Amino acid sequence: MAQARSSGKRGKLRVAVLGATGYTGVELLRLLTRHPRIRITVVSSQQFVGKRVGDVYPSLAERCDLLLEPIEIAKIVPRIDFAFAALPHETSIDIVAALIERGKRVVDLSADFRLHDPDIYAKWYRSHNAPHLLREAVYGLPEIHYRQIAKARLVANPGCYPTAAVLGLAPLFAERLVRGLALIDAKSGTTGAGRSSSVEMSFSEVNENFKAYNVGVHRHAPEIEQELGEVSRAPISVLFVPHLVPMNRGILSTMYVELEKSLGDDELSALYRNFYDRASFVRVLSPGFFPQTKDVRGSNECLIGFRWHASLDRLIVITAIDNLVKGAAGQAVQNMNLMYGWPEIEGLRGAALIP
Ligand SMILES: NC(=O)c1ccc[n+]([C@@H]2O[C@H](COP(=O)([O-])OP(=O)(O)OC[C@H]3O[C@@H](n4cnc5c(N)ncnc54)[C@H](OP(=O)(O)O)[C@@H]3O)[C@@H](O)[C@H]2O)c1
Repeated sequence: MAQARSSGKRGKLRVAVLGATGYTGVELLRLLTRHPRIRITVVSSQQFVGKRVGDVYPSLAERCDLLLEPIEIAKIVPRIDFAFAALPHETSIDIVAALIERGKRVVDLSADFRLHDPDIYAKWYRSHNAPHLLREAVYGLPEIHYRQIAKARLVANPGCYPTAAVLGLAPLFAERLVRGLALIDAKSGTTGAGRSSSVEMSFSEVNENFKAYNVGVHRHAPEIEQELGEVSRAPISVLFVPHLVPMNRGILSTMYVELEKSLGDDELSALYRNFYDRASFVRVLSPGFFPQTKDVRGSNECLIGFRWHASLDRLIVITAIDNLVKGAAGQAVQNMNLMYGWPEIEGLRGAALIP
């Protein structure tokens, strides 16, 4: 397992949060300012350069007093050991590549290094500038790839929808129990789209509304297929339909699958509990109990509930995560912990907010 390579005050790891003013960046700051083994030394922004973190987010003023700076690799590199990149996809590639080239370890929260195949990346995004890193990057879903994450230089933090879907379906695909297509009906809060404004995301458009978008053509579908295909050791397909709901945080993912054989509640419980035996942040609910987004708001947990519908011969699996925590910043911190051989839950012990 990789050992901590840190320097600076009291031997703490010196960490950069690039894109610290975005929703996932500020969530990283919220979590990292209570992490005992790291010290944030660099925070970047594009539009708030020269301001302090507390000028943009007053709740953090006492915890992180750093000046927001532009991303200038030569100036940043001597002051950090490790970086989180919480930048828009396609912006991340060159910045992450430059940091890796200079010997830094990185967790990238964007989609830029999640897909292993450059052709698939090109189909859904654009031609990739650093395909060698696409092949090297480890997909940062700790419940499945923890061994590779521990040794990685570059971890591609999963998307929020893929986290909710893959955690819900992986135990079934690992046993090759799924027959045909898995249907994934996912609902997300508005922070999933980031902080930058657009008419579509304005209050009047989102409030009292509930809509599907990118129906059957969302960029997270190939990511889900890559990961579930790896787990099942065969190519698989999913039908993925995301929806936007008028809440700030949270993803509820409802998945419908046909199984190769019918399983009772006890067998399904045992299957899920065995698969997540060592997982610190996945909780399998008792049969007949189903998660809600408010059960995970502000926490790094993924809750899973299921029901076998005997007369229709279908299994329904429901997962809930906070898109900004287990779906982004919390999972990124979990990955950093694994990369440095620290307890996986360091900095992530907080329970969900109630109500
Ligand atoms: N939101 C989610 O739930 C979620 C979940 C999983 C993964 N992700 C991924 O995580 C990444 C960040 O998402 P987010 O929701 O935090 O986005 P966001 O709220 O839009 O924040 C983006 C951050 O990047 C900075 N930035 C934007 N363009 C830049 C550029 N050209 N050069 C340097 N910095 C730039 C912004 O600075 P300013 O504030 O100065 O504009 C801001 O700090 C994205 O790739 C997203 O797909 C998001």
